[in-house]
Amino acid sequence: MLDWGYKYLMCPPQHFGVLYEINPWMHHEVQVDTEKAQAQWQFLVDTLQAAGASIVLQEPAPGWPDLVFTANAGIVSGDLFVASRFRHPERQGETPLDIAWFRAHGYRIEMLPEDIGHEGAGDALPFGDVLLSGYRFRSDMQAHTAISHLVKTAVRPIELVDDRLYHLDLSFCPLDERRAIMAPLAWDVYGCKVMEQLVPEPLVLEAYEALTFCANSVVVGKLVVMPSCPPRVGRRLESWGFSVVVCPVDEFLKAGGGCRCLTLALDVTLGRKAPEKENVSTDSDLSTGEGEVSLIQGESDG
Ligand code: ARG
Repeated sequence: MLDWGYKYLMCPPQHFGVLYEINPWMHHEVQVDTEKAQAQWQFLVDTLQAAGASIVLQEPAPGWPDLVFTANAGIVSGDLFVASRFRHPERQGETPLDIAWFRAHGYRIEMLPEDIGHEGAGDALPFGDVLLSGYRFRSDMQAHTAISHLVKTAVRPIELVDDRLYHLDLSFCPLDERRAIMAPLAWDVYGCKVMEQLVPEPLVLEAYEALTFCANSVVVGKLVVMPSCPPRVGRRLESWGFSVVVCPVDEFLKAGGGCRCLTLALDVTLGRKAPEKENVSTDSDLSTGEGEVSLIQGESDG
């Protein structure tokens, strides 16, 4: 089981809406049903709490509709908070609010260099003793050296190539030390190789499954809280001993976010545990193109 995922920062959707378009899912003319959004968000909170997770709240702020997506606030490791630098001005005003929250709660705050963008845990997820970090649509490739230095952990950059899956948490969901939900559709060839070498037992999504945002799930021990659960994915998770709860968050899908995006894990300490797989390649091994590359060939795991 994951040794994190029992404490989350969330932000009530009081001021949530689709007020601009910064990803392919957002359409200005689509109205958010505020009451429905509030009920869906509350059901997610209740589900996570019932699973044994504790939820800490951030104050919503008028004018910052995407503040609900706390996954993007920054990267947390122990008592360290590395604040995000958002690509789009529409979200940049969230950063001072996030910094204020983490400062008030006793965290050490670190900033990335000014000209380097990174969108926090939405683009950075731990697996074993490395941090996987997506880049291109929102985060910059250059962020990884700085992040690695700050969190004292090896960072593996993964290039994202499908703008519908613009943050890493839409294509990758760590389940335990050996398993993860993965949507290789979102990654370039090299990224697929990195993932394949890192994750001993992947649950590989078909494109149509990935586009339901089912990788954007919150894992609390043996429970997977999902925005949707395609039947094959559910069967595989259950065969691995997980149970599944679907929390419909379609009001938030209108803004391009699912369950995971609405949470930021606070009980993460990076760089502690190695995955149980031998021969995890070095970068030079990966570039030789040796070995099987089933993720790239788009094979499903049956
Ligand atoms: N509307 C938000 C944006 O485009 C959605 C953020 C989704 N967050 C995530 N961690 N994938 O930035």
